[in-house]
Order: sequence, then structure tokens, then C-alpha cells
Amino acid sequence: RTCSLLGAPIQTGASQPGCLMGPAALRTAGLEPILSELDWQVSDLGDLSIPALSPRGHHNAAIHNLAETIAWIEVLEAAAFDAAKAHDLPIFMGGDHSMSAGTVAGMARYAQGQGRPLFVLWLDAHPDLHSLETTTSGNLHGTPVNYFTGQPGNDAYPPLAAAVPTQNICMMGIRSVDRAEHKLISEQGIEVHDMRAIDETGVLAPLKTFLEKVRAANGLLHVSFDVDFLEPGIAPAVGTTVPGGATFREAHLIMETLGDSGLVRSLDLVELNPFLDERGRTAKLLCDLTASLFGRRVLDRMTRSF
Ligand code: ARG
Ligand code: MN
Ligand code: MN
Ligand code: MN
Repeated sequence: RTCSLLGAPIQTGASQPGCLMGPAALRTAGLEPILSELDWQVSDLGDLSIPALSPRGHHNAAIHNLAETIAWIEVLEAAAFDAAKAHDLPIFMGGDHSMSAGTVAGMARYAQGQGRPLFVLWLDAHPDLHSLETTTSGNLHGTPVNYFTGQPGNDAYPPLAAAVPTQNICMMGIRSVDRAEHKLISEQGIEVHDMRAIDETGVLAPLKTFLEKVRAANGLLHVSFDVDFLEPGIAPAVGTTVPGGATFREAHLIMETLGDSGLVRSLDLVELNPFLDERGRTAKLLCDLTASLFGRRVLDRMTRSF
């Protein structure tokens, strides 16, 4: 089994700097040796980059760093497509969450070429469902899901080769939703498990139902993991902390179940801001969670969780 590591040192989509250092922190925390130890053949493809660009305006004056985001989407779309061809499970190391506009778009193009549907598991405090028209913060890490599902209002972004239908998305951990995002979730019936739902059902039941749906459709699954999905007390290194996140045990259970399923085809690790970390604990936790997805287990089990 092969895996690749691809760094996307992008921070222009976030409200504060620091995510630029995310890929370096994940490497420092030992992501490569951890996965090699689990019998994966790991290729570190280094970091991607974009050229210096002149600013690009938009009639929504709140938007900033649009030129950079467009350039990152183009670079990442192509890199994700190539990584999917070359490796069983590429990991895209961010970088702020605007990068997923590129990685998911590239994976969607790859899936289309395989004649299979792409599904997305979005683990986040936020649904990141703003269009370029509706964002009021102008922080473009709030826009990737709107873009890759092909919603109107993103004309300034690159044209999509393949959109991900909103029915193919499952969101978990959501606890901060803006008005325009709320409206879109209701209108499109997007599957969102907010923290109330997780308190009521736990993480396993909705996850298994979603994985059964992916399997029944012979789908490819992309997992997008935003650090702020986690409870800030265990994962302080993120600029957009929201109280009441997933616990250590919920997060590991999700990753182990995803690993057992064998359905995951690509992974984003995003929004890690090492400038805000405490002795590398968030970077290390992300590596351990990734290890759970890649097969690290405390004991062998007679029955798989999925
Ligand atoms: N909805 C808020 C905004 O648009 C927060 C977005 C946070 N997104 C993230 N990827 N951390 O500004
Ligand atoms: Mn922000
Ligand atoms: Mn996010
Ligand atoms: Mn978030």
C-alpha cells in the first residue's frame, strides 16, 4: 500500500498567519516514520508553491487574497489528480482549509475518470459553505464546500471539471454555522451531524450509515480533517477554535472505523497553525489520528468496526 505526503503551505484563506508552517510541523512530528512503521510505502513529494501574484479585486469587497487562492486551487487540483493516479492514499498537508477547494476538485476529476462517484467526509466545526458572494469575513477558508459542490456565485474561481453532489457529503462536528450556510444546508438537505446530533447518537452510528452508502455506490471517499473539529483543549493549534468539539476518543474511533472500511482514497489535514501550538501537541495528535486511519490498533479484533 502506497501513500504520498504533499505539503500545501497556504495561509491566505485564514484570518491569521501560521498555517504556512503546517506541513513542516507534521513532518517534524514524524508523520512519515509513523506511517512507514505501519507498513505503508510513503513518498514525501515535498511542498507545492505558487508564484508571487498581483492582487485581484472582487465586487464583494470583504474578500482578500483572491489571486493566491485561485492559484492554489489550480496547483492543488492538478497535484491531487496526479497523486490519486500515483498512490493509494495521498495525504494533503495544509495549510488552511481553502486548499480543499483544490484537493477535492482534483479528486472529483479523478473519480469521474474512473467512472466512480466521489464522497466527502467533512470533519470540521464549520461547514465552509460560503460562496464568494455570501462570505462576510472574506476569509476564503470558509468557501471550499460551496465551490466543489458547484454552487452558483463562485465565478471568479477556476471552472470545475467535476462537481461533488451535495448528497455525497457528510459533515460531522459542526457547531458554528453562518446564516447563508444554514440556508444552503436546509435547501439542499446536506447531511450535517452537529454536536447536538453527536451527543444524541454518538459518532459511530452516523459514520457507519454513511460508509455503507459509499460502499453501496462503489464510491471513493475523501476525508477532510480540519483541526477545529477537535475540542480546543486537546488541539489548541488552530485559529478558529470553537468550544465543544470532538473528543480524543471520538476522533480516534472515527479514524479507526474509516481505516477498517478500506474506503478512504485521500485525506486533507488542514488548519494546523503551529504558531499557536503547545510543545507540538496538536501536530502530534494529528499524526496519531492519521495513524489510526492507516491501521494502528491497540489490539487485534475478532470483528471489525465496519
Ligand atoms: N464561517 C466563518 C467564515 O466564513 C468561519 C470559517 C472557518 N473556516 C475554517 N476553515 N476554519 O469566516
Ligand atoms: Mn477565519
Ligand atoms: Mn474548515
Ligand atoms: Mn473549521
